[in-house]
Amino acid sequence: MSRTAVSSEKSKLRKTGNGADTSTDEIPVAQSIDELNTLLRKTGPAVDNERFWQTVRAQFALRSDSGNLYTNNGTIGIQPHLVLQSQLDVIRRSEVDPWSPWPSYCPSPQEARPKLAALLNVDASEIAFTRNSTESMNIVAIGLVLDPKDEILTTTHEHHGGWSCWQNRNEQFGNPIRKMDLYDPPQDEDELVRLFEAAIRPETKVLSFCHVTCSTTWRYPVAKICAMARQRGIITVVDGAQSVGMIPVDIREIGSDFYVSSTHKWLFTPKGTGFLHIRQDMQDRMRGGYFTHGALHTAGRFENHASQSPAPLVGFAMAVDFHQAIGTTLIEERGATMAGYLKKGLAAIPGVKLWTPMAPNLSAAMVSFSIPGMSSGDIGTPLRQRYKIDSRGLHEGGYHGLRLSCAIHNSYEEMNKVLEAITEIADKRC
Ligand SMILES: Cc1ncc(COP(=O)(O)O)c(C=O)c1O
Repeated sequence: MSRTAVSSEKSKLRKTGNGADTSTDEIPVAQSIDELNTLLRKTGPAVDNERFWQTVRAQFALRSDSGNLYTNNGTIGIQPHLVLQSQLDVIRRSEVDPWSPWPSYCPSPQEARPKLAALLNVDASEIAFTRNSTESMNIVAIGLVLDPKDEILTTTHEHHGGWSCWQNRNEQFGNPIRKMDLYDPPQDEDELVRLFEAAIRPETKVLSFCHVTCSTTWRYPVAKICAMARQRGIITVVDGAQSVGMIPVDIREIGSDFYVSSTHKWLFTPKGTGFLHIRQDMQDRMRGGYFTHGALHTAGRFENHASQSPAPLVGFAMAVDFHQAIGTTLIEERGATMAGYLKKGLAAIPGVKLWTPMAPNLSAAMVSFSIPGMSSGDIGTPLRQRYKIDSRGLHEGGYHGLRLSCAIHNSYEEMNKVLEAITEIADKRC
């Protein structure tokens, strides 16, 4: 997109009435979820109400006076004040007054479990809190009872946190792994289901794939793929590192056997928090786990219940409340609309090749692209050094380019800055 095109988009944005109040009035930072709810209701939740999203932005600890622009939520999220403060309070109280009985100085960290279970529409006994997707994937890959000849089918789009655990499985138990190659963006959901179906062989017993890919940022029709696999007796392991908090994730509806996530990305939970969901009828197929207070027969046995700081789970519960105060539907809609704007802007820049499909059902709140002749570093390094924009390079599956995220704390003004910067970087190459 040229500078002129960008500024005409900007003026269009400014003309969106409800959506364009760019004044810098002090927006209060909520001190509780009740205050947040009042603040958000007063501002008027709507996908195109920029004042509402500025209010959301003001709730994040991310400083706004540095000129730095954060579009790398896909790597790690940043916490709202409420989430950060809830942990700091607990840490402080547990150090300055360790005599006070537990419930008097902090909300129970166990509140996080039913809250997360409700968000995902699963039973609380099916959830284990872990540190991230990588840890959850490792627990599944090493603990799942399989015959050594059973094949694991995965794709070339997996993050190393989602496939190196299977490599370990292969080294420990000999299970063959095969990666199906998906390169060009799909045209529709059924094409993706057909590709997975066609790759299955009689020896395939596990299908391990992403809900939203970290490279091309495609959104897979997970429920359809899981149903197809189930019909063939194949176990499904879904890597939802890039989905929970960004789009609706109803695990019961999805029908996966295992679902993992790094909630510290899109749900804005404390860094080093995530989960593993093990469907009820798969729990006996798993070996291993931690035995800290006798034997546990729920997914919770894959969680370390021994002495530790309550802070991460206290922050986790607060992050779920924060998410619910805004609402999953509105968050998904905002991400899709902003990513749509970014995709259109990028597609108008000469030479840019988009990897993320335009269709909202095949994409989410991230956008990946490349510029032929330029490496990921050729684009990402000047973007960071010259324009102070944080992004993520594409490495998986043979792609070279960049990934940008459109989180709830991002604004259209930021997206315009991104588009201007990419336009200049692409121009200089010419
Ligand atoms: C699809 C996917 N899986 C797994 C991971 C690994 O996440 P973590 O380092 O939080 O385990 C990532 C990280 O970006 C990812 O995008």
